[in-house]
Amino acid sequence: MTTDLKSRRLVLTRSAALIGAASSGLLLPEMARAQSSKIRVGLMLPYTGAFAPLGVAIENGVRMAINEQGGKLGGREIEWFKVDDESEPSKGIENASKLVQRDKVDVLIGTVHSGVQMGIHKVARESGVLNLIPNAGVHAATRSQCAPNVFRTSFSNSQPTLALGEAMVKRGHKKAVWITWKYAAGDEAFEGFKESYTKAGGTIVKELGLPFPNVEFQALLTEIAALKPDAVACFFAGPSGAKFIKDYAAAGLKGKIPLYGSGFLTEGLLDAAGPAADGIMTTLHYSDSLDTPRNKTFRLEYAKAFRMQPDVYAVQGYDTGLLLIKGANAVKGDLSAKPALYKAMESATIDSPRGKWTMSKSHNPVQDMYLRVVENKENKVIGIAAKGLADSGAGCKMS
Ligand code: PHB
Repeated sequence: MTTDLKSRRLVLTRSAALIGAASSGLLLPEMARAQSSKIRVGLMLPYTGAFAPLGVAIENGVRMAINEQGGKLGGREIEWFKVDDESEPSKGIENASKLVQRDKVDVLIGTVHSGVQMGIHKVARESGVLNLIPNAGVHAATRSQCAPNVFRTSFSNSQPTLALGEAMVKRGHKKAVWITWKYAAGDEAFEGFKESYTKAGGTIVKELGLPFPNVEFQALLTEIAALKPDAVACFFAGPSGAKFIKDYAAAGLKGKIPLYGSGFLTEGLLDAAGPAADGIMTTLHYSDSLDTPRNKTFRLEYAKAFRMQPDVYAVQGYDTGLLLIKGANAVKGDLSAKPALYKAMESATIDSPRGKWTMSKSHNPVQDMYLRVVENKENKVIGIAAKGLADSGAGCKMS
């Protein structure tokens, strides 16, 4: 046999082995990925349950950013994979594994709920797959359990409320009741509120809570009426926030005890909440009324594309797309070039509808927090409650 024939036979044997490995499922994820010419993007978001509209807004935002680039990432076509996480923490690991092990995604975008995020986080840390967090603010993801392959484009749970306490005390409200859903997002939002409110000289007279996603607020509102604080501060999100706002007014508290909140309280639901929302003051890293060309163009284009108004979740999805584009462009679509990919995303400045923001060392946005008040179904910006606010990143050691 000639050397030429011998080497041809070797090549054929090798590719036959590869095909065999592929059909028997033995192919290493990296090999499988390298064979596919499309970038595999996984979306793990809530499409049912208490946060369903948030998941939809995030997906819209991601797609809008990528569509603005001709629908490609670093010059490569995209194949999309979707899982509905139902905001159900007990299914978090299983759902993330579907995208990572079964669908072999190159990047997992998700999710909204902090409890579900911890399931994704475990899978992301063990597999090394790139995870972009478009909402969930759970502290551990960018503090004690921070990881080189995990980037957040939204906020840490205590960021919005770190800006809230001082704004309340400045308005003369020195005794407050706090109310929230009792799970990581509510508890960590409280951490930020407690720090800023007590530092500014306020006293928290009572901490009230109910399990997620319970909306039976009545007994707690009766308790608030009896306590007669100067103000109430809260964390709620999604359509349930509209119920809280309406129940608060129906209980006779509106106009008597001012209602403040982490700004999610008044996102995406002002039509549903109606006049009961007027006067609510919140702090958040976005406002529909931001008077910048960037925000105005974004809002116009989003409304045209999806026939609905964007909210903070749509912006976070959009920014997730922008960050992924920066990373993918830097490595010309080769997401396996991890050091260069991570470096590009770490050093990115995102020109967002919320205003420009950068990535902290622990992979969380450094961003402005706006003070907003609801007026006629709009979150009106009335000031900047905190400029260039970074999360502490406490305990983060990138390995
Ligand atoms: C969370 O669970 O981390 C969470 C959910 C909805 C929000 C904010 C935080 O609006």
